[in-house]
Amino acid sequence: MTITAQSESTAVDLPGKKIEGLRERIAHHQYRYYVHDDPEITDAEFDSLFRELLALEEQNPELSDPNSPTVRVGGGVADRFEKVRHQVPVLSLANAFGEEDLHRWRERLLRLLPEEEHARLAYVVEPKFDGLTVVLQFDEGQFTLGATRGDGEVGENITPNLRTVNHLPLQIPVKGANGHRGLHPPRRLILRGEVYVEESDFQSFNQEQEERGERTYANPRNFAAGSLRLLDSGITSERPLKLWTYQIFLEEGLEQPPDSHWESLEHLRAYGFPVCDESRRFGDAEWDDLIEFVGKWHELRARLPYDLDGMVVKVDLLAQQEYLGFTGKDPRWAVAFKTGGEEATTKLLDIGVKVGRTGAVTPNAVLEPVPIGGVTVQAATLHNADYIEELDIRIGDTVLVKRAGDVIPKVLRPIKELRDGSEQLWKTPTECPSCAELLERPPEESATYCVNNACPDQLVRKVEYFVSRGAMDIVGMGSKQAELFVSEGYVNTLADIYRLPWEEIEEIEGYGEKRIENLHHAVEESKSRGATRLLTALGIRFVGNVVAELVMAHFDTLDDLMAADLESLSEIEGIGPKIAEALVSYFKLEPNRALVQSLSELGVSLESPRQESEDGEQALPFEGKTFVVTGTLPTMSRAEAKARIEAGGGRVTGSVSAKTDFLLAGEKAGSKLTKAKQLGVPILAEQDLLQSAEFEK
Ligand code: IVH
Repeated sequence: MTITAQSESTAVDLPGKKIEGLRERIAHHQYRYYVHDDPEITDAEFDSLFRELLALEEQNPELSDPNSPTVRVGGGVADRFEKVRHQVPVLSLANAFGEEDLHRWRERLLRLLPEEEHARLAYVVEPKFDGLTVVLQFDEGQFTLGATRGDGEVGENITPNLRTVNHLPLQIPVKGANGHRGLHPPRRLILRGEVYVEESDFQSFNQEQEERGERTYANPRNFAAGSLRLLDSGITSERPLKLWTYQIFLEEGLEQPPDSHWESLEHLRAYGFPVCDESRRFGDAEWDDLIEFVGKWHELRARLPYDLDGMVVKVDLLAQQEYLGFTGKDPRWAVAFKTGGEEATTKLLDIGVKVGRTGAVTPNAVLEPVPIGGVTVQAATLHNADYIEELDIRIGDTVLVKRAGDVIPKVLRPIKELRDGSEQLWKTPTECPSCAELLERPPEESATYCVNNACPDQLVRKVEYFVSRGAMDIVGMGSKQAELFVSEGYVNTLADIYRLPWEEIEEIEGYGEKRIENLHHAVEESKSRGATRLLTALGIRFVGNVVAELVMAHFDTLDDLMAADLESLSEIEGIGPKIAEALVSYFKLEPNRALVQSLSELGVSLESPRQESEDGEQALPFEGKTFVVTGTLPTMSRAEAKARIEAGGGRVTGSVSAKTDFLLAGEKAGSKLTKAKQLGVPILAEQDLLQSAEFEK
């Protein structure tokens, strides 16, 4: 059957009936189109129904209805949002970071629930949607109120904006929705959902805005929140917002209220709400399957067109939920499962600068301490001045911070909406914070450098690196000693490490005879590490222990390497032009040649470890280690990475198992990364392979 405006207008005469019939049919077609992505009529047919309704409503203003489908186009402009007190508090969720936390959560449930309840224990696992939480109220089936979560007690009334979200039914049940016939709308229904945007819609929106020179949003979540908080609902109506609903707070006046969360999801579906089909129910006996299912959430995330923030595990039976209750703001009966990078917001108290061993001066964030993934974070990297400028990060801003695994936390962006005007712009320093030398910025780079070879901070970092485990491995020497020896003036060049005045040091508080003896011994012992370790320890750009290994396989001594030209270095497999260039320019500089010379005179071996290896003393860095490589690496191809690992004595296999020693992961690393995390396999980035002198063991 083809529905046209024509057939409609001849069928019914009374405008009231006609309008009502049109509204119902339009609501049904919107439901088919938006919630099920399965339209029954063409867009043109739909448009003519819609236009007819608009015209009739215009002719009969007394028949207007705030829930008519025509409100989808928005239009009302508010001057502010009214506050609304939630009838039922909108609580948040506790997090489980990893499997262990999830096991502990279940153990607590088993402890709290009476024995006889254990057999009935079951769970529902759902995606954790990443958007803006909304609370929706329906009275006698009519959408009456939509609010933001706010602080959980009081939110903002954003009803006109929510009416423009096409996935939201304005009257329930929607005709044609599953179970429509048998299900009466409850007297009052209050539910919770998440308004979100699909990744691709978000991208094209931002692109168009950029072309028009208008504001863009930092991420899909901001987009959803920003779009719902626009004062002009006409603009909101043009935003590609979508909705998932996932929790009923209140369902009043039902003859047969649902017993379980699973059943209440069925109710939501039957009323015509969008409910995600990725949810699963597990009995307690299927706990292992549940663990496997949530462990794969990264795969689910990669497959879905919108972003997820983890998974939520909920106790299914409503009676058990009630029995378990809440602690503070979190229900005991539900938990959010998250793994991988974790984010939190906190205040940026100040921006400090640090001089690295290459002289690069990098800004770092001083943060108000905030727990992220079980660790308190109070410092984070800000990369470089460009990063701060591009993202417009200001001192005093509330910032979003991410901590992924063990890597240094990172400031992702400022939350500009929270500014109060007191925020301060940060100025790139022009002088080195350590030695006051004017800083330089090479043309193609985003970092500024202190080029003073005698800069104390730089020297401290160089010493720290030189003595570290993957380099000269001087046990007992660390950051504290590096700082002390540099500040006391004992160390002015790396060679001075081998000229330390031991008797004088013995006078320093805390450095007793025994300690000095051990330290002295460790320094002496390090002299025989060989050329590969020494080359690593010099801290030349791009030359970590793997590259050092590759290079020194072609030279007998460090002297030979110093004499090599760009061409011969470039011929070495695994050594690209950047590395060859870095080596040549390092050894071209007189102070660096003099340093190697002094080290040699002080008894530090310049011999290539190849000979030592024949004596069985020096092993390759990855000897006996199994690697898996996944994802797109920033600069290397996978083949190149494989060649490097193999040159270091390691082996590369195709799949992650308990026998894998390391996973080298790049961008878009999928299931292998998930699996490695599950199995606790250490995860490395390309940078580790290039630079790190630390992870040898
Ligand atoms: S249940 C009383 N289920 O995540 C507990 N919340 O971190 C009710 N969220 O803002 C929450 N997807 O609105 C639940 N499938 C889902 C969810 C979900 C996203 C949001 C929630 C809250 C945040 C808590």
